[in-house]
Amino acid sequence: MLIKRPSDIPASEVTPRAVYLRRREFLRAAALAGVGAAMGTGSLGTASAARAGEPIPNVRPSRFSTDEPPTDVDDITSYNNFYELGTDKSDPKRNADQLETRPWQVVVEGECEAPGVMGIEDVLRDFPQEERIYRLRCVEAWAMVVPWVGFPLGDLLKRFKPTSNARYVAFETLYDPTMLPGQRRGVLDWPYREGLRMDEAMHPLTILATGLYGEILPNQNGAPLRLVVPWKYGFKSIKSIVRIRFTRDEPPATWNMMQPNEYGFYANVNPEVDHPRWSQKSHRMIGAGLFARKRPTLKFNGYGEQVASLYAGMDLAKFY
Ligand code: MTE
Repeated sequence: MLIKRPSDIPASEVTPRAVYLRRREFLRAAALAGVGAAMGTGSLGTASAARAGEPIPNVRPSRFSTDEPPTDVDDITSYNNFYELGTDKSDPKRNADQLETRPWQVVVEGECEAPGVMGIEDVLRDFPQEERIYRLRCVEAWAMVVPWVGFPLGDLLKRFKPTSNARYVAFETLYDPTMLPGQRRGVLDWPYREGLRMDEAMHPLTILATGLYGEILPNQNGAPLRLVVPWKYGFKSIKSIVRIRFTRDEPPATWNMMQPNEYGFYANVNPEVDHPRWSQKSHRMIGAGLFARKRPTLKFNGYGEQVASLYAGMDLAKFY
């Protein structure tokens, strides 16, 4: 990943929480109105054929959310890493319309008793959606605070009954160069792949996100389903997932395969372990302006109390 100066990012202030909360009230009312309208057509307002920007009904707040003010929605949706839609931070938004996210299916297979396929509408219907306000800390030393909508990954994984052979979970992004123009070039070894250890995947902080700011995810943020692991660098949070596989062995992960000395499999946020080309001790908040003070980066992105025990006895400088 290249570090670029985000000259294209306006130095807007982060959204004050009160403004965001008022906006949520509005969205909730809009969602209810949507259900009323949908009843006439007999569809009961499930997110059938929901598109980016449409409100997700019945989103519950989560006790796992940070109370930091969320980054402005325009910054979250216009400063992106999604190489399938282009390598420049502004490309994913510009090319977002090329990706068609309906219909969408996720295959779940490998070391499990009940392999199967789930459509995105079933995912939205079957798993209660929560708001998780998490910081996304990119390995490039910037961060944002994102009000994700999603649900624990473990809830979905359990449904497919992983066996005791399942020690890892592997994820794959859609491979379709007709819809993902970046895949027409060999910048990465497509499809984008990532993986987690089983205990990391089952941890209650690990979510699959379906939306942000109360609405269906915009394509540039990984619609219709992406991983979010708040204590790890952003590259673990694989977007537009079509395949989940339980494996015995550590699965291949895209950036780790590309540059193993720079990007580890674990990728836990850690200010004590620098990237070979830059420090990880602090980061810049996107949207705070180029001259805003850098913030100190916290180990495990501030979630040490919840996750440090997963790595007890491991040398995190070696398993970075
Ligand atoms: N997933 C796919 N499929 N392709 C990508 O290029 N980039 C990763 C991650 N997931 C990426 C991906 C990186 S480097 C980061 S920092 C986050 O997505 C960025 O998420 P955001 O654009 O929603 O902020």
